[in-house]
Amino acid sequence: MVQLKIEDLQVYYKTPIGSIKVLYDIDLEVEKGDSLGIVGESGSGKSTLGLSIVRLLPPNGKAYGKIILDGRDLLSFSSAEMTKVRGTGIFMIMQDPFNSLNPVKRISDQLLEAVEIKYARKNEKVDKGKMYDEVMKRLRDVKLPDPELIINRYPHQLSGGQIQRVVIAMGLLFEPEIMIADEPTSALDVSVQAQIIALIKELQSKYNMTLLFITHDLSVAYAVSDKLLILYGGRILEYGPTEEVINEPLHPYTEGLLKSFPKGNYKEGKLYTLNGMPPLFTELPKGCVFNPRCPYAFDKCFVDEPSLYDVDGRRVRCFLKNENKQ
Ligand SMILES: Nc1ncnc2c1ncn2[C@@H]1O[C@H](COP(=O)(O)OP(=O)(O)OP(=O)(O)O)[C@@H](O)[C@H]1O
Ligand SMILES: [Mg+2]
Repeated sequence: MVQLKIEDLQVYYKTPIGSIKVLYDIDLEVEKGDSLGIVGESGSGKSTLGLSIVRLLPPNGKAYGKIILDGRDLLSFSSAEMTKVRGTGIFMIMQDPFNSLNPVKRISDQLLEAVEIKYARKNEKVDKGKMYDEVMKRLRDVKLPDPELIINRYPHQLSGGQIQRVVIAMGLLFEPEIMIADEPTSALDVSVQAQIIALIKELQSKYNMTLLFITHDLSVAYAVSDKLLILYGGRILEYGPTEEVINEPLHPYTEGLLKSFPKGNYKEGKLYTLNGMPPLFTELPKGCVFNPRCPYAFDKCFVDEPSLYDVDGRRVRCFLKNENKQ
């Protein structure tokens, strides 16, 4: 069953040098319980996509199109209606876990506040003892060692991994159907990263959540996702089942990302790197947005922009993969 459907999403930011478009023609569908890996280099628009879905774009950002959750278009919601959805339907783990918690309040107070908000929204009266039990259950869900001790601490007394677990516990308190995790491990040590990724996967299947996992690291996305979406210059360049995308990438950009995988791709002791840099939104190339870095670009690629073509049930934005080369 399709749970989340995005149609023709376009996002703009107002800046001192004018309005800049950073997401173009985003169309995608996510089935209930699936996990979608959203992969792209820094600045490709990953966080903007996540923030658009939870309607938490900064004040200078504006989204157009449709974001349909369980048949309802979130972009048409009032902010009061959206607060309800955000508290129950969707939860987003932000890129910087330290900003998700209040530095001057104990963890216990912050988590209890979250449960209180949940029940207030549902108009249910629940006693404090039951709320405390609920908080402890979630802290055990995220496998925090010594939750009874940790709950009395302030955020600065916790490690990055512990903070991220507390933030995930806070999300679980709202029993979300969809969890969006925006680079949830990029601020953490490598050893802790793998634990948090395993935890998120485990919780996803335990609570049958739909997961949108944002990362710049294709190998992480490979580990967590059923489907992959490759974002570049605000466009979807490729979208399809993870195994198929990894085994047979359709877009030259995906091919380049795969060649940069550390495993087995050292050439004369050097790791393959993609040439060039991602484009600036103020200086997008004419034609295909990837043409300056594409080893296969031909005349047409410098003139026209390819659409997102269907290729055997997968999608790719590349003239080479479109039989008519149109
Ligand atoms: N509030 C804002 N005002 C203006 N431009 C913004 C704003 N937030 C983001 N941008 C621009 O939008 C583009 C996409 O940013 P976004 O944060 O979505 O990228 P990202 O893929 O999440 O990058 P990263 O991997 O660095 O987190 C970038 O060019 C960024 O500079
Ligand atoms: Mg980001």
